[in-house]
Amino acid sequence: MFEFPGVPVSRFELIADELAERGWSVQPQLLPADLVQALASECHALWQQSDLTPAAIGRGPEQTVVPRIRGDYTRWLDDCPPCAANSAYLRLMDELRHVLNRSLFLGLDSFETHYALYPPGAGYQRHLDRFQDSPLRSVSVVAYLNQQWQPGDGGELRLHLAAGTHDVAPRAGTVAVFTSADIEHEVLAAGKERASLAGWFRRRPDNPLLR
Ligand code: OGA
Ligand code: MN
Repeated sequence: MFEFPGVPVSRFELIADELAERGWSVQPQLLPADLVQALASECHALWQQSDLTPAAIGRGPEQTVVPRIRGDYTRWLDDCPPCAANSAYLRLMDELRHVLNRSLFLGLDSFETHYALYPPGAGYQRHLDRFQDSPLRSVSVVAYLNQQWQPGDGGELRLHLAAGTHDVAPRAGTVAVFTSADIEHEVLAAGKERASLAGWFRRRPDNPLLR
């Protein structure tokens, strides 16, 4: 059976080191090119079939779609037809989860992720990924799926850090990882479609040591 190539564990260890040191890590060309291509096709197929839905902000009854604040269209991977690329991506994220737990004792026990497609002009205003009423999201992971992204295409992930801002181009294969509780960030509008997988490692809800 066909299998996508893996990622050397040393690259996951570098992410763990940078997270511990400063709370964020950006890794260009982390994902194997074949895998990125397959994930990108999957995302664009979902988009073309109208299987992505406008993303809401907030939680529970407070959920609303406000395109001016958040303009992407999403679908949880759990809710997508299973395919080799999705499974391979989830396997890699599980490896990353184990490395983070081993080196940082984070007690991460699950991963949730969705495809996201930002149509031209769409962005996501400055925000934190952790919900006020639920402290479980601990580490955010965004994998970018855009081949041939040029300077000037926009669509950067902008991290707001104590020392200033840091922009990340959403280039195919790049993965951005940052702490969900305290790193504010935004998605700048792009001139063309921008595809990604945004996900979160969550802690166990009942761990009394991490309250
Ligand atoms: C998010 C998000 C960043 C990106 O989905 O919460 O901030 O670069 N995404 O797509
Ligand atoms: Mn976010």
